[in-house]
Amino acid sequence: MCGIIGYIGNNNASPILLQSLKRMEYRGYDSAGIATINDNELIVRKDIGRIDQINEKIKFDAVKGKIGIAHTRWATHGTVTIENSHPHVSCNEEIALVHNGIIDNYMQLREELSTKHNFKSETDTEIIAHLIEEEYAKRKEPIETLKYVSDKLTGSFALVVIFKDHVNEIYGVRKYAPLIIGKGKKENFIASDIVSFIDYTDNVIFLEDKEIAKVTINSVKIINFDGKEIRRGVTHVAWEAADVSKEEFSHHTIKEIHEQNSTVNMALKQDKVGFNNFIKELTSGKNIFITGSGSSYHIALIFRNMLTRFAKISAQAFLSSEAEEYSELMDDNSILIPISQSGETADLLEAIRKVKNKGVKILSIYNTVGSSLSRMSDLSMNLNCGPEIGVAATKSFTAQLAIVYKIIFNLCQMENGDKKLEGLSSNIKEVLDIKKSLHQIIEVLNESNDVYFLGRSIHHPIALEGALKLKELAYIHAEGMAAGELKHGTLALVEEGTPAIIINPMDETYRDTISNAIEMKSRGAKIIGISSTNNEVYDYWIKIPEVDNSIYPIIEIIPLQLLAYFTAIRRKNNPDYPRNLAKSVTVK
Ligand code: G6P
Repeated sequence: MCGIIGYIGNNNASPILLQSLKRMEYRGYDSAGIATINDNELIVRKDIGRIDQINEKIKFDAVKGKIGIAHTRWATHGTVTIENSHPHVSCNEEIALVHNGIIDNYMQLREELSTKHNFKSETDTEIIAHLIEEEYAKRKEPIETLKYVSDKLTGSFALVVIFKDHVNEIYGVRKYAPLIIGKGKKENFIASDIVSFIDYTDNVIFLEDKEIAKVTINSVKIINFDGKEIRRGVTHVAWEAADVSKEEFSHHTIKEIHEQNSTVNMALKQDKVGFNNFIKELTSGKNIFITGSGSSYHIALIFRNMLTRFAKISAQAFLSSEAEEYSELMDDNSILIPISQSGETADLLEAIRKVKNKGVKILSIYNTVGSSLSRMSDLSMNLNCGPEIGVAATKSFTAQLAIVYKIIFNLCQMENGDKKLEGLSSNIKEVLDIKKSLHQIIEVLNESNDVYFLGRSIHHPIALEGALKLKELAYIHAEGMAAGELKHGTLALVEEGTPAIIINPMDETYRDTISNAIEMKSRGAKIIGISSTNNEVYDYWIKIPEVDNSIYPIIEIIPLQLLAYFTAIRRKNNPDYPRNLAKSVTVK
């Protein structure tokens, strides 16, 4: 869950690497470092903290050298220390590398290497530097060395490596972790993330798993782990640099919340043929499984609910991290629908790998162009919502939801379906205005240790998502639950003043959910109702527009995103980079 990048070109590498690190900071922000080669010297600078703080201290951008690598870390193996930060360097200080992923057999390799090599960190990555040093001494050739080393390593990894005696070359290795080459003019990049080099080029070459790339200032050579040279063309990605700026907003998260009135429309614009093929598969009578993690899992729950209730198609939804029991059930008569913003979530990719060779059809919904998920799919739909930088999913959540609506409305041939979808954008615009009236509720949440989110049926996943947003951004314990389950335990926790957010639009769930709100209120809870209609049980009412019943989830989530964001601001948390979290969870 780190960001890695390498640069080679005619310019000084370090200011470019610094800019790239800032672009990738959402991937990890415990510590960061760079390494360059200049005048036959390997220079390494690294420290802990946020990138700007580190740069102020150790002036990354003053480091000389036209070749360099850089890393932003989200700690997995080893605590947050300077020693554990990347780049890691061989004992002879001739080789430096950055790594994203996890090496499963690092303990065993460390033991084997520790008689000859001096380990400075607790990381799994450092063993790779020593292993390369060991093998390079025998082979004297980077690609052969990297092939051998990659075979020895188990787990998932993307590496960018520089060798002091190959100052005109930079090497990348990909196995189950993303790595993309950016092709510039007299400069090239190799990184975990397109966003990292989007300021410099939008021409990319995607590496596949088990491939090694040798990149020079004006050439790219790709060789697979079997030694075969691979020819692959350049893809032009449409993301402009402006898409990843904050514009006039103080944070990416609030910018992305505001973008939702247009991003839902972008998500609805699907290629006709691709969309129809997707629908054809869904109606082919195969067993349907839907999976995701975090917010994307909540979409999987809504998708299942709507497929079952509206389209009368049965489906199962499961957390990608719990794929084991479901993968047993899948065969060539099954469809798996993985949903993911990043397309790189390790649990999700693992869930696909478990079943792909059993003939299961993979129909994915993802955002990141060229992601691993996009390339593992038989059919897919892209969210088209542009890069999402804030760690908490916001615009990608509603874009996913918009695609789910498009599918369901099509399957049901819903009357006025197109009109309803066209109206989503203005519904969202209207509800975004609610932010002006949230002050008192934000004060209530800010004073609370626990908050409950209640909803029934299709509103249950929205309750889960609302609670997740509050936890992630405001660091307040929150529980989303099916409203009917309240009396089976959670009611015991309700005390005087406990806030309960009741998702309660005027649909068939309204009456029962009001009863649950009353049960809570009579135990002292402060009730915050989200509904188009006020009710005397609400201490606070968040008014949402009256829309078609099926549309409510996309409307309800917006006030919950706003509440989480503004409570985070009230608490002086940085909502873009919540503590301990990373946007793209590329480790299991
Ligand atoms: C991380 C992010 C969440 C996201 C989840 C799944 O935990 O912080 O916001 O929902 O991963 O990510 P995906 O990219 O697969 O949708």
